[in-house]
This record gives sequence, structure tokens and C-alpha cells, in this order.
Amino acid sequence: MRRKLAAGNWKMNGTGAALSELSALIAVHPHPSCEMLICPPAPLIHRAAALVQGSALAIGGQDCHANETGAHTGDVSAAMLAEAGATHVIVGHSERREDHGESDAQVCAKAQAAIAADLVAIICVGESLAQREGGQTLQVIGAQLAGSVPEQATGANTVIAYEPIWAIGTGKVPTLAEIAEVHDFIRAELTARFGAERAGAVRLLYGGSVKPSNAAEIFAVSNVDGALVGGASLKATDFSPIVAAL
Ligand code: G3P
Repeated sequence: MRRKLAAGNWKMNGTGAALSELSALIAVHPHPSCEMLICPPAPLIHRAAALVQGSALAIGGQDCHANETGAHTGDVSAAMLAEAGATHVIVGHSERREDHGESDAQVCAKAQAAIAADLVAIICVGESLAQREGGQTLQVIGAQLAGSVPEQATGANTVIAYEPIWAIGTGKVPTLAEIAEVHDFIRAELTARFGAERAGAVRLLYGGSVKPSNAAEIFAVSNVDGALVGGASLKATDFSPIVAAL
């Protein structure tokens, strides 16, 4: 049985004052039925992790470098995130793939680094609008999975997030049938590569304009094990009903 996961990605939003949202979340969900995770900007991770210690809320990073140390100005290693108190890290988000030109191979190396540092890697995949309209969605997702998911992936160390790029921050959401088609495809691809037992333990999140108003219907879709939420994770009052819908 896969434990559901409600994950929030704050992206480049939030200063120290925003940490009060974490306290509010913990207060409303002391014993949530799903796993709860917030990925704040890197400078907040240490404070956030200290604040949530002993609670049901976990803290994650939004990216890590593939190397352990070195001359990589501005980057953060997986071990540094772990030392700061993170238990998870997002890799291969489409904003990083686009803004920083990250390839599948780089995302795979980051996921490997995360796993080596005992972090859970949340590996993002997703098609652009042009790719969807061109009927290439499954082909694109298949290639991203093959290139970005490392050999050592298991249900304990890896989560896959399907985030159609055109649904991120736009208010546009695929139909439930479209979400089911991609999630079933991801499960089938993982099964073909890792076998049914191992693939069946990997959680698949949907991300892209998840809101309190649409969370329940999305969570009812086949092979959707939770959500990776952007805008609606910034305020406890928005994220809390999403957690409750899982
Ligand atoms: O990583 C989550 C994200 O890309 C989705 O953002 O704002 O559409 O929920 P949003």
C-alpha cells in the first residue's frame, strides 16, 4: 500500500515570516493520514526543519547539485540539504530544466546524489503544450523517465511527479482521463523496467494547478498517490484542505 503524499513546492517564495505557515499546518494536521512535505527556498530549510522537528511535517529541498563538493558557485549538495534537516529533494522540475538547461542525464545524476545522501528524490517529468498538442505526451514522458530515473530507484527513495508544463501556475488542469492516462503509463514504464513489486511501491504525484477545489477529484484518479503543489502550498489555509482531501 503506497502512503499518499501531499508535497508543497514554495519555489522562490517565502522569507522567514512565511515559516508561520508551517506552524499553522502542523497545528491543523498533527496526525495527517498522508505524508506532508514542504520544500521552501534553500536558505529557510535549516530553520524550517528545526521548527517542524517531531511533527508530521517533513522539509525538502527544491534542487541539489550532482556532486558532493567542488567549485560550483551558488549550488547546494544533497548532503548539505540533509545536514540542514531536509529529508526529500525535488529534482528535474521543468523550471530548472528550462531556466538552467538541465538534461535528463543531469537530473538522473542529481537523483543519484540525493539517494546517496539518504534523501527521497522527487523526480519531475512533464510535457509542454506544443508536445501535448502534437500528440507526443507519452513519448516525451517515456524518454524523461528512461533518462532521469536512476537504476537504484525504489519506492523508499524515489517519487515521480507528473507536472504538465502548461498546467503549472496557469489554472489549467488536464482532464481526469488525461491524468489517468499518463499516470498509468508511468506505472507501466516503471513496471517494465523494475518489475511489478518495485514499481508498485513508487509513488506518483500529480502537479499543476492543484487547488482545494480540484484536489479530491484528482486524488481519486488511478495511480495518483498525491500532489506536488506550487501556489496553493504557500498558505496553510490553501494547503490544509488539499492535505485533508488525500
Ligand atoms: O512543483 C509544483 C508546481 O510546479 C505546480 O505549481 O502553482 O501550478 O501548483 P502550481
